[in-house]
Amino acid sequence: MRFTKSWYVCNPPPRRRAELEHPAKFPEAMAQEFIRFFTRAGEVVLDPFCGVGSALVAAEACDRVGVGVELLPEFAARARAYGEPRASRRVLQGDARQAVDLCRAAGVEEVHYVLTSPPYWDMLRHTRGNVRSAQKERQARGLRTTYSEDAQDLGNITDYDGYLDALTAILADLRRLLAPGRYLTVVAQNVRVRSGEVRPLAWDLAARLSRVYTFKGERLWLQDNKRLGCWGWPAEFVTNVHHHYCLNFKHDRGG
Ligand SMILES: C[S@@+](CC[C@H](N)C(=O)[O-])C[C@H]1O[C@@H](n2cnc3c(N)ncnc32)[C@H](O)[C@@H]1O
Repeated sequence: MRFTKSWYVCNPPPRRRAELEHPAKFPEAMAQEFIRFFTRAGEVVLDPFCGVGSALVAAEACDRVGVGVELLPEFAARARAYGEPRASRRVLQGDARQAVDLCRAAGVEEVHYVLTSPPYWDMLRHTRGNVRSAQKERQARGLRTTYSEDAQDLGNITDYDGYLDALTAILADLRRLLAPGRYLTVVAQNVRVRSGEVRPLAWDLAARLSRVYTFKGERLWLQDNKRLGCWGWPAEFVTNVHHHYCLNFKHDRGG
């Protein structure tokens, strides 16, 4: 029942060097809670933007089968090897735009839950306050600050509506794979751009996807261990963004 509360606190544990190679990994403990709530043992969990495979490791820890799609070969390779991979783990290197075909070609005809965190538009390229300082730290440690230069990378689409169109189309297409009556969770954030304006990415995505799936509401993932930055104060109101939206949708029968 606790899971149905609309917010929770999860402070990601410090990451090991290998995990730090990825600029935006989510914690397995958090993924496990979602997976346990929305699936049963033996069922298949898909992450179409799987990064280094956190959702797949979490799925296996709950005795589910993890399937992931990842554009970048180096992240896909890490996802294949991350944790203690089970023989059932499938990491498909390719563009999420082809996720359904990639899954079918790998013998995955149906999944029981989708849990994913796509690139938050081109946020990693914006020099916004709190991201910039984190990015500077990564640069100083010789770690990558963006996913890639690949034109297919959703994090490289500069046009906001173009990004939303591409992401919505990818997630909507997964209805062909997601069993009717089952759920899809997208972890997203609203994004501040250089002008100081905040683009309501999470809300815009929820509005668009709710035309294809039934929107069942959000859970707010709160982080309570991040440093506060003095970005705009006292001249401007600039929030220290320490939360993400976990947007939950249902593939309703006939919907
Ligand atoms: C927010 S990260 C996901 C991190 C993942 N949840 C984890 O914990 O490792 C988004 C991922 O989407 C990948 N990506 C970007 N564009 C993609 C595309 N068109 N198809 C598949 N993956 C893509 C990026 O390389 C990145 O690894």
